[in-house]
Amino acid sequence: MAITGASGAVYARRLAQCLLGSDVCVHLVVSPHGARILADELGVTNLSPEALVGGPAPQAVLHQHRDVGALLASGSFLTDGMVICPCSSNTLAAIAAGTADNLITRAALVTLKEARRLVLVPREMPLGQIELANMLRVSQAGGIICPACPGFYLRPQTVAELVDFVVGRVLDLLRVPHVLRTRWSPGAADSSGSGPE
Ligand SMILES: Cc1cc2nc3c(=O)[nH]c(=O)nc-3n(C[C@H](O)[C@H](O)[C@H](O)COP(=O)(O)O)c2cc1C
Repeated sequence: MAITGASGAVYARRLAQCLLGSDVCVHLVVSPHGARILADELGVTNLSPEALVGGPAPQAVLHQHRDVGALLASGSFLTDGMVICPCSSNTLAAIAAGTADNLITRAALVTLKEARRLVLVPREMPLGQIELANMLRVSQAGGIICPACPGFYLRPQTVAELVDFVVGRVLDLLRVPHVLRTRWSPGAADSSGSGPE
């Protein structure tokens, strides 16, 4: 799991909490701009897996952003996949261009070349032709573009519900079971007990 310098640190925290709560070993890489936004948006200053999730994180390993000699930099290190959440347009562009000068982009490109699951969660608006073209290129290479774009059909009442909607969809794409409320069915909105008013 990588965290880059797009707004939406709250998505990263919730995703890390859910992954670690699902018995998944998480190798974490945070870009310098990602760290800045974790500090700005969540008040996480002394970065560690524990500080990110706000509790114990025994199954998490934090790697240095510039360490392209870390385990994740090699296709011989077996992973189930990789998620970048949130994913900046900068990191998206680097992956689309095949540039691997830090551990996040190197690991992402390794994930693609090894035909493993790569999920990018961009948060940018509006999207210009360059971002759209980069998304298309990564998608054509096998990556999955999953924008931080919550649905409203379950009538969310809180920000936490909006965050869970996005995180739940990411977990689905990573094939990690969860119980977050994301699934549409006829009458699902009514079962929330309150309307959108
Ligand atoms: C406060 C702040 C918020 C930002 N939000 C976004 C954003 O939502 N999406 C985005 O693509 N870039 C955003 N940026 C710009 C990126 O942080 C910048 O392009 C940076 O180079 C990304 O580096 P990284 O990909 O190594 O993390 C933001 C920058 C700052 C300082």
